Amino acid sequence: MSRGIQAVKGMNDVLPAQIGAWQQLERVFGELLLRYGYDEIRVPIVEHTELFKRSLGEHTDVVSKEMYSFTDTGGEQLTLRPEATAGIVRAIISNGLLRGARLKLWTSGPMFRHEAPQRGRYRQFNQFSIEAVGFAGPDVDIELIALTARLWRQLGITRVRLLLNSLGSSAARAQYKAVLQDYFRQHEAALDEDSRRRLNGNPLRILDSKNPAMQALIAGAPVLTDSLDEESRQHFAQLCSALDALGIAYELNPRLVRGLDYYSRTVFEWVTDALGAQDAICSGGRYDGLIEQLAGDATPGIGFALGVERVVELMNQVGALPAAPAAAVYLIASGARAELAAHKLAETLRDALPAVPVQLNLGAGNFKAQFRRADRSGACLALILGDAELDRGVVGVKPLRREAGQSECPLAELPARLPKLLEEESWKTT
Ligand code: HAM
Repeated sequence: MSRGIQAVKGMNDVLPAQIGAWQQLERVFGELLLRYGYDEIRVPIVEHTELFKRSLGEHTDVVSKEMYSFTDTGGEQLTLRPEATAGIVRAIISNGLLRGARLKLWTSGPMFRHEAPQRGRYRQFNQFSIEAVGFAGPDVDIELIALTARLWRQLGITRVRLLLNSLGSSAARAQYKAVLQDYFRQHEAALDEDSRRRLNGNPLRILDSKNPAMQALIAGAPVLTDSLDEESRQHFAQLCSALDALGIAYELNPRLVRGLDYYSRTVFEWVTDALGAQDAICSGGRYDGLIEQLAGDATPGIGFALGVERVVELMNQVGALPAAPAAAVYLIASGARAELAAHKLAETLRDALPAVPVQLNLGAGNFKAQFRRADRSGACLALILGDAELDRGVVGVKPLRREAGQSECPLAELPARLPKLLEEESWKTT
């Protein structure tokens, strides 16, 4: 027997039984983004490989190890996007949206990283990516964090903590990189293999190491907050005091460096203790140098991305999901003329009552089989149309969720009478 084709490792199907939380998140977050004045943008899933090398950084794990890159038949070097910020910034520049403008944008969709799959870490995963461009001051940092705090409240998610750090200006960060390199070089013998690899290109990432054997060395490393430039220090202080004023709790974490090279100044991460090792559910920060680096006019930027799979898992744990909309009517038809009339009746009802889901029996079958399907559909009312009913201009009406006999309703009166009939079955639109 030949084996069926499996899904690609680390890439998941979202089945109908699981989709409720996804749609709830999309609805709640979509509404929130509208209220905060963000506009949706949709950018391609595939970009030139060069874009990610130049923006995320050649030495980052994402670019050096995790990208799905390929040469297309035209010889172009392309990559499935590992994140959305680079593509959005590219779109802003290549569509000429900048010109001193301030932009507040969001997008959502699948991202691709060839990581080792485990709970909460996938090779295709989904993000909401929110980006504000053209705002230099800390007010936008504050508002973005307030937006995420509001999202958790609206979703009923409480087991989250906000980690906060400042990486300083690009210059301060470059200086810190050199200080850190010096420190780790002095202790090179104590570095594990991963850290040794990061030492030259990306020493900040050594601070992120989860290896217990490295923790003492990391704890002794110089911290960036000690060498912050004055402007970054002020920016960060204003952010912190505004969060205090808004009652949004945070933890300062000088080891929070983030895995992509484009960050400067504010970086933040919402983490949870409810998901195991992959604990970051939403992370981001400022990228004040990125637009200039990609050949746009120097413009500050800030954003974050929310990991949809991880937030959905939290939502499922909380369990406060709305019930799936109740199925209402199942239309049973038997006989060639009646089947055709049932199509017309179903369309008439869908025209007249858009809020009432009408399922038409497809694939014929005897009455017994059709009633079984009606029952499984979850509908509360079966409408029955045979050639005999059709000749008399009526339709049979049978409650499916309680003991009750079948009655009849004149076909022409059904659109007007159906709401009342559904009310008697306690059916409600959700
Ligand atoms: P990131 O930290 O690489 O940042 O990813 C953001 C979020 O995506 C993470 O906090 C996590 O929830 C989710 N995530 C990342 N990798 C995976 C994975 N393999 N499986 C499941 N979920 C994952 C960025 O992507 C930046 N573009 C964020 C940003 C926007 N910074 C500024 N603007």
